[in-house]
Amino acid sequence: MKDIITLAIESSCDETCAAILKNGREILSNVVSTQIDLHKKFGGVVPEVASRKHIENIELVIQSALDEAKLSFKDIDVIGVTYGPGLVGALLVGLSSAKALSFALDIPLVGVNHIEGHIAANFIEHKDLEPPFVCLIVSGGHTHLVEVKGYGEYEILGKTRDDAAGEAFDKIARALNLGYPGGPKIDKLSKIGNKKAIDFPRIYLEEDSFDFSFSGLKSAVLNYLNSKKMKNEEIVVEDVAASFQEAVLDVLVDKSIKAARVKGYDKVVLAGGVAANSGLREKLSEKGKEYNIDIKYPPLSLCTDNAAMIGCAAYYDYLNGKVSDLYLNAVPNLKL
Ligand code: KG4
Ligand code: ZN
Repeated sequence: MKDIITLAIESSCDETCAAILKNGREILSNVVSTQIDLHKKFGGVVPEVASRKHIENIELVIQSALDEAKLSFKDIDVIGVTYGPGLVGALLVGLSSAKALSFALDIPLVGVNHIEGHIAANFIEHKDLEPPFVCLIVSGGHTHLVEVKGYGEYEILGKTRDDAAGEAFDKIARALNLGYPGGPKIDKLSKIGNKKAIDFPRIYLEEDSFDFSFSGLKSAVLNYLNSKKMKNEEIVVEDVAASFQEAVLDVLVDKSIKAARVKGYDKVVLAGGVAANSGLREKLSEKGKEYNIDIKYPPLSLCTDNAAMIGCAAYYDYLNGKVSDLYLNAVPNLKL
């Protein structure tokens, strides 16, 4: 059978990305041009700045992906592109480029849900991984516990009712003056801090709920910091970071394992930017062993935003006949 070559484009937030994949699971190139330094000074992503930077970068990034794969446009069979969720102006840059290429070169277009892309990152890393399994998707914008029943077939078991897990990491890091993005900084400090130093709340919600809530924990940490400042008492930043992280991880890990057990699965798969967290990987793996549940996660480079994961999801959509037309629009709040 002829190989299927996918060109994938992702521009939903602050990374301009293009990748080329062979048969969905083999990366030929994966180019990520990050804007982190640009947004750092504002303490978070500035949507308009992100869109403008995507416009400057997109052609270059696509060309680099082709060059690295030693291919040209004539070799491409499918174009996959993120059309939501994300920042509308940012999404439109990648989407317009993909539509223009699809039209000009007469190549089928596949619109991909960004969250679906995060899940698919695992198919690239784990060649034998097949659905069904339970997947915990934790990123800057999303916290979902999903039953992946087949390729492109999902049932949401729970999601956050307020902040996303990564958003909570970023906000607490900001309060601790650690800079943006906060997740990796808190991860690093947690390794030297005492995770039992402060007993922050673990919010489990109703007994049978697989939903999450992080705003109460966020307020508890902010209140703790304010009260320390008012009393002129020393704040041990690494202890706050470690205690906060532990409170997040306890809930994420307990609910993921419980979801697998309730639904009868022996596999839990991690995805999204927060899946890069070393404490989360470790804790989930330990708990998985206890219950005979296999834990899988992508390498760091495929946890945070990239186009390879979008290409993998696009490949399976293409095989399933889910091709988009040129009326495809950006959907900032696209649901899974
Ligand atoms: O998936 P991603 O790149 O973008 C979204 O789709 O949102 O995720 C970015 C999020 C940020 O909130 C960042 O702080 C968090 O992932 N993150 C981490 C780590 N690395 C990135 N959070 C905790 N520990 C990390 N090591
Ligand atoms: Zn993402």
